[in-house]
Amino acid sequence: DKAGHKHFMAKEIAEQPTVIAQTVQRYLGAEDNAITLPDDSLDFNTISRLSLVACGTAYFACLTAKYWFERLAGIPVDVDVASEFRYREPPIPAGTLALFVSQSGETADTLAALRYCKGRAARIASVVNVPESSIARESDLCLPTLAGTEIGVASTKAFTCQLTVLLLLALRAASDRGRLDEARKVELLDGLRALPNTLNRALDVSSTLEDIAQDLAEAQDILFLGRGLMYPLALEGALKLKEISYIHAEAYASGELKHGPIALIDTHMPVVVFAPHDALFDKSVSNMQEVMARGGKVVFVTDRKGWAAGQEGVWRHAIMPDVDPILAPILYAIPAQLLAYHTAVAKGTDVDQPRNLAKSVTVE
Ligand code: M6R
Repeated sequence: DKAGHKHFMAKEIAEQPTVIAQTVQRYLGAEDNAITLPDDSLDFNTISRLSLVACGTAYFACLTAKYWFERLAGIPVDVDVASEFRYREPPIPAGTLALFVSQSGETADTLAALRYCKGRAARIASVVNVPESSIARESDLCLPTLAGTEIGVASTKAFTCQLTVLLLLALRAASDRGRLDEARKVELLDGLRALPNTLNRALDVSSTLEDIAQDLAEAQDILFLGRGLMYPLALEGALKLKEISYIHAEAYASGELKHGPIALIDTHMPVVVFAPHDALFDKSVSNMQEVMARGGKVVFVTDRKGWAAGQEGVWRHAIMPDVDPILAPILYAIPAQLLAYHTAVAKGTDVDQPRNLAKSVTVE
């Protein structure tokens, strides 16, 4: 049942405020500011390193979480694609928490990587959307995402729920390790509680993004750029677009541009830049100017302050509501998903069942 939407993907994008509210409520009391995990024996003071492993979109959720765990909790983090991790046979140092992220909980490579860590890692945890799945059953600690059934092959609500759980876990780690002062903790937890509202306001920008998508649908190649927390989101935006519109897209950390990919820029190349007005904003704008100086057509996804400061020469833009920079990846996932969705609809491709793809990849 698509609940009045044209595609399951559209329905699942629209459901995000609701399922994120459910996920936040599962881990965070309405009254107090304690973050409760299903098994309270996990003490981050005993964890010296995190190893995050996943595939596809779940891998990009892990790349985002690396910034959170390192910045908020001061824990070193490695992130691996499961298909590489399992055959590399990496040494697992003492004190490692191995964390596997998967919507289906049945991805063959992720499950094999989990089995490799058994007997090697201090603890095995997973962030999974299907509680009875193999990955959930085989981990010591399973942190559910409450996204509900996801039918569209392109992951949307499962991704933002994964981000939500990973951020809550990073905040719990920061608390355990005494790295987060109370005022900042309250600010971030209130931001998480307010997120459903903020996401609703981001969904209101859909028609602007639909408009931009009519032009993107004409492109052969599209570049996505971001810095800091927006870099993994740029990767996710490019994957989403490739999957459902079949337009070639690539993502780079904006600072990498001049080390090669800038050679691609010409007047035919739309460049989507995710850049809220955060600590790295000025650097993002100067990267964006490098693109525009070479004729690149910039789609600027930013907030009000960012638009006021960086609009010169921009081709198209979308303005997101204000949000704490730590929460921005969850919010900016919405325009990334909507750009891909509307571009695919404009091209007339099969949004929910893209060619060559399966919802759950249970073979290698
Ligand atoms: O079920 P999983 O989260 O383990 O799946 C991982 C990837 O196969 C999945 O995220 C894939 O990249 C999606 N089609 C992305 O939209």
